[in-house]
Amino acid sequence: MASANKTAVPGESLRTHLRAATMAAHDLLDHAMQAANGWQTRADYARFLSLQHAARAPLESWLAAHAPADLVPPPQTGLIAQDLARLGLPSPAPAPLFTIGRPGPGAALGIAWVLAGSALGNKAIVKQVVRIGGGGWPVAFLGDDGAMAFWQGLRARIERPAAPAEAEGATRAAEAVFAHFLGVAEGGQAEDAARESLPA
Ligand code: HEM
Repeated sequence: MASANKTAVPGESLRTHLRAATMAAHDLLDHAMQAANGWQTRADYARFLSLQHAARAPLESWLAAHAPADLVPPPQTGLIAQDLARLGLPSPAPAPLFTIGRPGPGAALGIAWVLAGSALGNKAIVKQVVRIGGGGWPVAFLGDDGAMAFWQGLRARIERPAAPAEAEGATRAAEAVFAHFLGVAEGGQAEDAARESLPA
């Protein structure tokens, strides 16, 4: 069985280990971002895109500054901004800085895994967005082929066991990224609640 702590089980692939360690966080995030089956309106979709933009902007900056070129997924904030503009909305300001202190072994790999792996979820969500939006909602971000291509390339690197220090560093970093996304998503919900409580 996959371990749910930071120490990889001998022989376990890094991907299996990372998925097990972040499964609960992923479920929380999925719920907080209200996956497409909970969306009714363009405003719901725009909120999802705004959260994605706010959370990803500092992560893309972190990877650009700290990661080797082969661990930098194609940036997607430009695609999200494009979708928001097509919905008639400006891009949101970036979320607060993302930091994990001094990057150790595995940190860039863990961050790249979360961003690249989310392309799998996006592939599922885009089908629902096309259905709910009657084909009229922009999907440059969710339908991004570049993200999927990067993901396929990363698989060879993670579908094998990693050295213990690398596995531990990647797990810590991946957990930090999920916590960062969750903070942005929950902050967005707090803003929604505050807006709804205002007199019309
Ligand atoms: C917004 C709602 C979301 C939904 C509905 C969703 C859904 C999914 C689905 C269906 C998968 C594929 C599971 C599989 O094939 O085994 C997946 C995997 C994944 N998602 Fe999400 N996701 C969401 C948000 C996110 C976000 C915001 C992130 C990044 C912070 C993320 C990161 C990942 C990762 C890292 C994987 C696993 C990659 C792997 O298999 O190694 N997801 N998600």
